[in-house]
Amino acid sequence: MSESEATPPSTPRTTAAAEDYLERIAALIRTKGYARVVDIAAELKISQASVTTMVQRLDADGLVKYEKYRGMVLTDAGEAVATRIAHRHELLTQLLRFFDLPEAIIFRDVEGMEHHISGETLDALERLTRHLDAHPEIVAQLKR
Ligand code: CO
Repeated sequence: MSESEATPPSTPRTTAAAEDYLERIAALIRTKGYARVVDIAAELKISQASVTTMVQRLDADGLVKYEKYRGMVLTDAGEAVATRIAHRHELLTQLLRFFDLPEAIIFRDVEGMEHHISGETLDALERLTRHLDAHPEIVAQLKR
């Protein structure tokens, strides 16, 4: 794994719910070019009122810049958190893929695991993932 893929420096602490939002917002901006409350509500299957409340909180925390009629953008701090979240999601996905699990199961489990894992455990799993990546013969032994 190259230097640029190393764990990003520590960024503000966020709750699992805030991380879920930042993950969706970053993904929407990446794929559609913008993120609106209505899109987030549809993806997370919650009411627009609840989404608005959370987005206003993220704005107050300096992670998102929210304008009622124009949607939202991530601030630099929000980008840093979103980058950390994306890195963690990719790492856990890469690890589970060594076991040839169905992609749908991998996605669901990563979404559940990612917000509850400590930085220490993530570092350990990153070392394990790098080791397995360098040793396909071990990976072959793990497959059923
Ligand atoms: Co995720």
